[in-house]
Amino acid sequence: MLLLTGATGRVGSALLRRLTTARVPVRCLVRDPRRLGAERVRVQIALGDLADPPSFRNALRGVTTVVHLAASLRDQPRGSIEELNGIATWRLVEAAERAGVEHFVFTSALGASAHNRTRFLRAKALAEQAVVESGLRHTIVAPSIVYAPGDKLTTLLGHLALLPVVPLSGRGRAHFQPIWADDVADCLMAALDRPVDPEHRDLRVELAGPDVHSYEEIVRIVLQAAGRPRPLLPVPLGIAARGLRLTEALMKSAAPVTWDEAELLEVPMTSRRGTADAERLGVAPKRLAAVLGAT
Ligand SMILES: NC(=O)c1ccc[n+]([C@@H]2O[C@H](COP(=O)([O-])OP(=O)(O)OC[C@H]3O[C@@H](n4cnc5c(N)ncnc54)[C@H](OP(=O)(O)O)[C@@H]3O)[C@@H](O)[C@H]2O)c1
Repeated sequence: MLLLTGATGRVGSALLRRLTTARVPVRCLVRDPRRLGAERVRVQIALGDLADPPSFRNALRGVTTVVHLAASLRDQPRGSIEELNGIATWRLVEAAERAGVEHFVFTSALGASAHNRTRFLRAKALAEQAVVESGLRHTIVAPSIVYAPGDKLTTLLGHLALLPVVPLSGRGRAHFQPIWADDVADCLMAALDRPVDPEHRDLRVELAGPDVHSYEEIVRIVLQAAGRPRPLLPVPLGIAARGLRLTEALMKSAAPVTWDEAELLEVPMTSRRGTADAERLGVAPKRLAAVLGAT
């Protein structure tokens, strides 16, 4: 039995389709099973929450492999970014060790480090450390920015494109190697199929798409694909931070973007290895413009 967290997300939904097609027995740890859509009848469901580590124990019963994708870029009513990404992973790793799990697969992020300016990437570094220091055989996957057509970012930009100019938090100069969620899911499937090799028991792969783009270029490609190219209006970071913090204070979890999310777009997420790690897993990541259909 494989336990999948984050099955309703960009990568998780793409991975779940592949796992059920391959008839892998899957249990999904979810907050709301309805968000699994049609797949919910093909899997076992464990109700749980990253903010509720005791829920992990039931979910792990009889599980040999964990794929831990669930994460949150923003604080939630029941847990902070640090609790949901750092501490929850640490507690899941501990529970997995107790449950006799054989392989723990964790999705970190390029740029995760204890010294990163963002709370999210510092929490991911803590989570990676918990996975590495466990006794579990593990695979860590660290992607650059992950996208899927119709995801939150492309949808938000589509809405903003109804305006005559599209606001950009900061200057959008940080660089990324955007990778399609389906390509990440293919890499995860390959990592799950990898035979156990006692010489190279653990694996850490960096997943990057074929092109290096600044955030500003990514926005332009998304707007082009939506058929609404627009001039961009850089908003100085101090103003963006104050505006987004105020929006979050007023709208709470309904805020379309938080400062913690916007700040992540100031931090480069690139790998010198480019697409090499994905290719070693047999995956040739596609270009952002091609997947979104920007011409
Ligand atoms: N997207 C990127 O640019 C990017 C870049 C680098 C690394 N990553 C990492 O790659 C992994 C997959 O990313 P993604 O883009 O597919 O994520 P995503 O689309 O944002 O999905 C997040 C998933 O986590 C679940 N989740 C959030 N809070 C939860 C909670 N309190 N309890 C249980 N589940 C919770 C969500 O479930 P609900 O349906 O309940 O909300 C959803 O299934 C994550 O670990 C992410 O940090 C992503």
